[in-house]
Amino acid sequence: GSLKAHAAARGLLTGCAVNAGLFRSDPAFRKLIAQQYSIVVPENCMKFGYLQPAPNSYNFTDADALVAFAEAHGIKVRGHNFVWHEALPKWFNTTVNKDNARKFLVDHINTVAGRYKGKIHSWDVVNEAIWIKDGRADGLRSSSPWFEMLGSDYLDLAYRTARETDPHALLTYNDYGIEYDTDEEQKKRDAVLGLLRRFKAAGTPIDALGIQSHIHAGGTETYGKGLRRLIDDAGGMGLQVFITEMDVKDDGVASDDIAVRDKTVAEVYGNYLDTVLRGPEVKAVLTWGVTDKNTWLNGGTKFRPLHPARAQRPLPFDADYKPTPAFFAMRKSF
Ligand code: XIL
Repeated sequence: GSLKAHAAARGLLTGCAVNAGLFRSDPAFRKLIAQQYSIVVPENCMKFGYLQPAPNSYNFTDADALVAFAEAHGIKVRGHNFVWHEALPKWFNTTVNKDNARKFLVDHINTVAGRYKGKIHSWDVVNEAIWIKDGRADGLRSSSPWFEMLGSDYLDLAYRTARETDPHALLTYNDYGIEYDTDEEQKKRDAVLGLLRRFKAAGTPIDALGIQSHIHAGGTETYGKGLRRLIDDAGGMGLQVFITEMDVKDDGVASDDIAVRDKTVAEVYGNYLDTVLRGPEVKAVLTWGVTDKNTWLNGGTKFRPLHPARAQRPLPFDADYKPTPAFFAMRKSF
């Protein structure tokens, strides 16, 4: 059976990030998505710079195509994302300033959330707003241009605007580096929970926490304790939890043997999913991509410092769209 059939049997959605280029050019890729998944998220084509290539001028071509495909196949869509310190267009720095930043933020959300109103399962309203290294007590990323121009109010403004524009979408806060039991990741988890509590206290609309889950095989760090507590605490606040961008880097695995590497990756998938799915909080599990043919982890050498010549195999399907051991581990965990 498919991933989505196994997931549905326990009331879970499962999905993937969709690369627009592959989606456009490869019918086999589209077929695989329709067969296996109940939810999709665009890898890049709903990001700010992609949608608004020139000030107040939008390009919805790729996003529209994915939403139409999803509708035709009964697949749900996650929106990713409205507000991030990355994926901003070139014109941003020279055009957006303290005086008009509020308007750009609100207009962007109104325009995009409005276009897909009623068609989006959940929006990543704000992505990666916590960055402990900026040194603030609340952990907010003060080096984000949105923070620099609007202060921490940009967060509440974004969520309020999203709720007003599309009251049907579950409003999500999405972040990474909150998976492992290290001191640094514990600090980040504390800051994320602090932000979610602040939203609740201020009446800022928030429905879900997205845990990106870019993790790795073959390392020494453990996960489970801090991660479970994060999920339990989010659940205790009445929030849903989504695993939004899972993939498993394998360049910490010493062996070059693909069977060994794939088995190690699959074990991480199985253990990680068993951990996060132990309670009722997690409602969707998505991987960041579908096939090892196209993963951001092979996009630059910075992602493979240990084995620069070795392509990563982090996803449930290999480059020929055959299921990998990770596929079977995912299915078993569902
Ligand atoms: C990545 C895409 O996969 C790349 O193609 C792009 O060049 C950079 O962004 N966290 C996120 C995603 O929230 O949007 C990122 O996606 C991966 C990390």
